[in-house]
Amino acid sequence: MPEFSTPFSVKHSDRKLTNEELIRAIKYSIAAEYEASQIYEQLAESTDYQNAKIVLQEVSDDEKVHVGCFKKLLDILYPEGKEFEKQGEEEISVLLNQKTSS
Ligand SMILES: [Fe+2]
Repeated sequence: MPEFSTPFSVKHSDRKLTNEELIRAIKYSIAAEYEASQIYEQLAESTDYQNAKIVLQEVSDDEKVHVGCFKKLLDILYPEGKEFEKQGEEEISVLLNQKTSS
């Protein structure tokens, strides 16, 4: 949840981030975008007020676009992560081929 209790609570760091810290921050940002998208989607599903539904669904979709922006940035900053993802995709493909062909 947001913590904007004072104007200084989100003050920038006194030093620049290391590459590892930036990668962690981008991963966190991806999770935060998914969370925000889900909150807006749940709110849209929880009201009958049509204008609110339209706005909330639009903003939810915008957050999914932001996920893509951060994922692309993460691929640039942390190409090793993409290799892990490919490994997982291959493992699941093999598993599903085994389970569906038997
Ligand atoms: Fe966003």
